[in-house]
Amino acid sequence: MSARLLPRIVSVGLLFLCPLFFSGCSAPPGNAADGKKWYVMNNCQACHGVHGDDGQAVKIAGIGMGFGRFIRKLRTADAPIMPPFPESKISEQDAADIYAYLQSITPGQAR
Ligand code: HEC
Repeated sequence: MSARLLPRIVSVGLLFLCPLFFSGCSAPPGNAADGKKWYVMNNCQACHGVHGDDGQAVKIAGIGMGFGRFIRKLRTADAPIMPPFPESKISEQDAADIYAYLQSITPGQAR
């Protein structure tokens, strides 16, 4: 093996390892456009507003919390008003899509 090839192999290898390292703590890749659909289909806008910052409930547009905390909020009914959304209603992937959507919108954005 030539000495010039080795760094290449190592860097390509690292590229593949990265997702493994981060998958534990970050959101799976979500699709914001799909997320917008799931957001409306699950009636999130009834409480949080169509734009995530114009409803009766807390603003969630431009969400700052990590994905782990977000999914816990979704799954468990620790909120007195917000219903729990189990896996059967919103899959992990759909939740990641919604999360991506919420991250893509800015509170108070001109519309
Ligand atoms: C019936 C009204 C209602 C519906 C429907 C609803 N929520 Fe909520 N949600 C609330 C209320 C009220 C809170 C604040 C209470 C709390 O955080 O304990 C909240 C809190 C949250 C939080 C935590 C915000 C924070 O800063 O702590 C997130 C994230 C969230 N909702 C996302 C969603 C998503 C996504 C949906 C749709 C799948 C949804 N909610 C549907 C009422 C609702």
